[in-house]
Amino acid sequence: MIEQRNPEHIAIIMDGNGRWAKERGLKRTAGHEEGAKAVREITKHCAKLGIKYLTLYAFSTENWSRPKLEVEYLMKLLDKYLKSELSTYLENGIRFKSIGDISKFSKPLQKTILDVEEKTKNGKNLTQVLALNYGSQDEILRAIKKLNEKNLEITKENFELCLDTAGIPNVDMLIRTSGEIRLSNYLLWQNAYAELFFTNTYWPEFSANDLDDLISDFNQRERRFGGI
Ligand code: FPP
Repeated sequence: MIEQRNPEHIAIIMDGNGRWAKERGLKRTAGHEEGAKAVREITKHCAKLGIKYLTLYAFSTENWSRPKLEVEYLMKLLDKYLKSELSTYLENGIRFKSIGDISKFSKPLQKTILDVEEKTKNGKNLTQVLALNYGSQDEILRAIKKLNEKNLEITKENFELCLDTAGIPNVDMLIRTSGEIRLSNYLLWQNAYAELFFTNTYWPEFSANDLDDLISDFNQRERRFGGI
């Protein structure tokens, strides 16, 4: 029987900001700025739809290899976004949480991230998870170190408790924009049984309607989780 219900956890690889900008003769940073607007729209839409978790790949462990100015721009944009979104989070019952190793970020940016996590911690509707200096392999290695330090038995449950996503259900639906078809070190454990969606739309143009269409497709898929 086909299961007809919205996904509980949607994860998105927001790709194509640079190409969106280039096609318009703009700087790559303009693509990121527009991408931040799409983050806002899609987050609000997920809250409206009753989705419980939305995990967005905002900065990967590999993104440090970009030009210094672009990295600095992304850091500033993130800080600005989080500060300006606080009221939206609170008004919409959205909890904000980060995953990834934020210890590599500047102290002021770490403070902004921790402040917004603290102030929104009672949000009961959607949890917006931003993957920040996140790489799945790095997360898995850090989880193994934690298991070891805590002297915990190696079980699936204990391992999951040591992942950055502890307490968050696995991904139901993974979306990647911009036509690239790869996982790029994103939530490799958590995507074990995710349904995968690849769309050619660049992230800055990805709209609430596009998400609705993909969720309709999701609801047509038969998920068997290895059963028959
Ligand atoms: C991929 O596009 C996007 C990123 C590496 C960063 C994602 C950042 C945003 C969506 C904007 C800011 C986010 C927040 C949460 C404020 P790309 O630059 O790799 O595009 P390209 O492949 O076309 O070059």
